[in-house]
Amino acid sequence: MDKTIELVNGVKDIQAMPSVIVRVLNVMKKPTVNMKELGDIVMYDQSLTIKILALVNSAYYGFSQQISSINIALSLLGMVKVKNIIVAVAMKPMMSGAGDKELWKHSIRVAAGCEYLAKLTKIMDADEAFIAGFIHDIGKMVLHMTNPKMYEKVIEVAKSGHDILEVEKKYFDSDHVRTGSLLAKRWQLPILLANIVSYHHAPSLSSIPVPCNLVCAVDKLMQETLDPSQIDKDFMKTMGIDMEDIEDLRNAIMNKAELLIAELT
Ligand SMILES: [Fe+2]
Ligand SMILES: [Fe+2]
Repeated sequence: MDKTIELVNGVKDIQAMPSVIVRVLNVMKKPTVNMKELGDIVMYDQSLTIKILALVNSAYYGFSQQISSINIALSLLGMVKVKNIIVAVAMKPMMSGAGDKELWKHSIRVAAGCEYLAKLTKIMDADEAFIAGFIHDIGKMVLHMTNPKMYEKVIEVAKSGHDILEVEKKYFDSDHVRTGSLLAKRWQLPILLANIVSYHHAPSLSSIPVPCNLVCAVDKLMQETLDPSQIDKDFMKTMGIDMEDIEDLRNAIMNKAELLIAELT
């Protein structure tokens, strides 16, 4: 059997998407989505209700009044944002499985960065950008869950300047792009998201390069240590961003992301 299939089949816990995400995506797929159906899903889940209320009252969204009703929160944030928050909250236990807390934080940072830049540059819808950034590394969950100790080793080796995909291939005979692509297929993710998972390390190969380029750039920008030489300068230029401003940009995004992490933790 192909190694990637073997790896994905081996992690039973993540073969099914969390049921709250399935319910939310089904509601959002309907031609006439109504806020009440989404509200019912949120209210059914107490921890989601608490997190959404905390978030809507946080500095991340910056509403001036105190909001204590989930229906008001939903109408202020809008359905797509609420869907994104539900995905981010519901995937947390899965991403943190086997102790990989960093993956969830990294995913939130990239999500916040993509949302921030999409809003600033208008190259794509900001809510779509958030979710694209959030899911880009889902394939890492498969590798981490398969063998947490070995994956920690991979991270350590990659930190010393090696390409993460090559190190993964060496240790797991597959990589997070392959495992993620298969997972995206099993989860029947929309084409845009499946593309992000498959091409965020090689955006020029994607049939929808702009979102893949955005996620690729933000992913590099949000690494633990910033290496500007890794960032595609031409793409930054098309977004109107000067490479000299890259550090300020990173700090601004980090600060925003930390607000989100604090509220969702
Ligand atoms: Fe990646
Ligand atoms: Fe990443």
